[in-house]
Amino acid sequence: MLQPFEKHPDFVVRQAHPFNAGPPPRLLSQSYITPTNLFFVRNHGDVPEVDIHSYRLQINGRVLRSLSLSLEDLQDNFERVNISATLQCAGNRREELMALESIPNELGWGVEAISHAVWSGAKLRDVLAEAGVERETDLPLHVEFGGLDQVERHHKQFRYGGSIPLGKVLSPEVILAYEMNGEPLTSVHGFPLRAIVPGYIGARSVKWLDHITVQNEPSENYFQRHAYRLFAPHVRPETVNWADGVMLGEMNVTSVICSHDENERVLPGPVTVQGYSMAGGRDIARVDVSCDGGLTWIQAELFNDATCWAWTFWKANFKLAPGNYQLVVRAIDTAANTQPQDISQVWNFKGYMNNAWHRVNIKVG
Ligand code: MTE
Repeated sequence: MLQPFEKHPDFVVRQAHPFNAGPPPRLLSQSYITPTNLFFVRNHGDVPEVDIHSYRLQINGRVLRSLSLSLEDLQDNFERVNISATLQCAGNRREELMALESIPNELGWGVEAISHAVWSGAKLRDVLAEAGVERETDLPLHVEFGGLDQVERHHKQFRYGGSIPLGKVLSPEVILAYEMNGEPLTSVHGFPLRAIVPGYIGARSVKWLDHITVQNEPSENYFQRHAYRLFAPHVRPETVNWADGVMLGEMNVTSVICSHDENERVLPGPVTVQGYSMAGGRDIARVDVSCDGGLTWIQAELFNDATCWAWTFWKANFKLAPGNYQLVVRAIDTAANTQPQDISQVWNFKGYMNNAWHRVNIKVG
């Protein structure tokens, strides 16, 4: 089937308008660098058409000099760097939370709202230095990213945006990316320019970047102040106090099985279980895999490109006789953070940050 935005024929479309889709897990785990036609897409509005001749990135707020930069200005005047980074949506694996209790008006992502690319662009800290912002001040400053796409929520139209703390902005991995996997960004991934904030939820990697504002407070944008906040499992929309939610930034530790579908039938004998894991700014230290629902575990073999901004692929081999099995995976990062066993501990009414042990039931024989 022909897919929009030149995506792979097997892309799983969760929503046509706006376009939200991702690769089938098996394809996702086939290449460490996700080919662009398989890279997941998360949009809150329609993809804007940007005229590259009139396009300017505006940098303003608490800066010494406001800047207005064309794409060429960025490419010609700032060092080009490559960052190998995995983007993951905070709503990845929401489907499992929804199976526990319904989560209305949110996308039911499986395990495919994550992908990995090599991004090229300018370090944001270099660009901000040009605007006269060079180091952290005593003020807890924030940097707002604004996109060009129009979004509608609660009968109001506005543009997508969000922010990150200045401390993170000044880290070398945060870039203004104009290329993805060696090619100019495609329209659906943010052409001509997007923020890439490795280690943070994908929501902060704002696409179709229009402005950057240095300010005292986090962005007032709906997607910073309201959405992408984490609440305790007992909180319900009817009783929520929005200001109490944790404004999401750094990703947690997670791991997922990609090699098998729920209730898949496999032949007896050697069975290789594979998938991804990710710790958002720390390395994965160990991945444990079980075939008996978590009673016993073996340690998986790990593969990654040695940067903490990138996911780790893992693989574990079992020899299975006919019967029913529950495959389970859990990862541990270098700070000994691990994943909760029970999904009810991480359920929240917006369906974010599900990093419970990932379980897949299979039948052998
Ligand atoms: N930027 C804009 N302007 N509009 C959006 O809807 N979605 C965000 C982020 N940046 C979004 C955006 C979210 S929630 C995610 S997970 C990532 O983009 C997804 O990036 P991708 O579509 O390139 O995979």
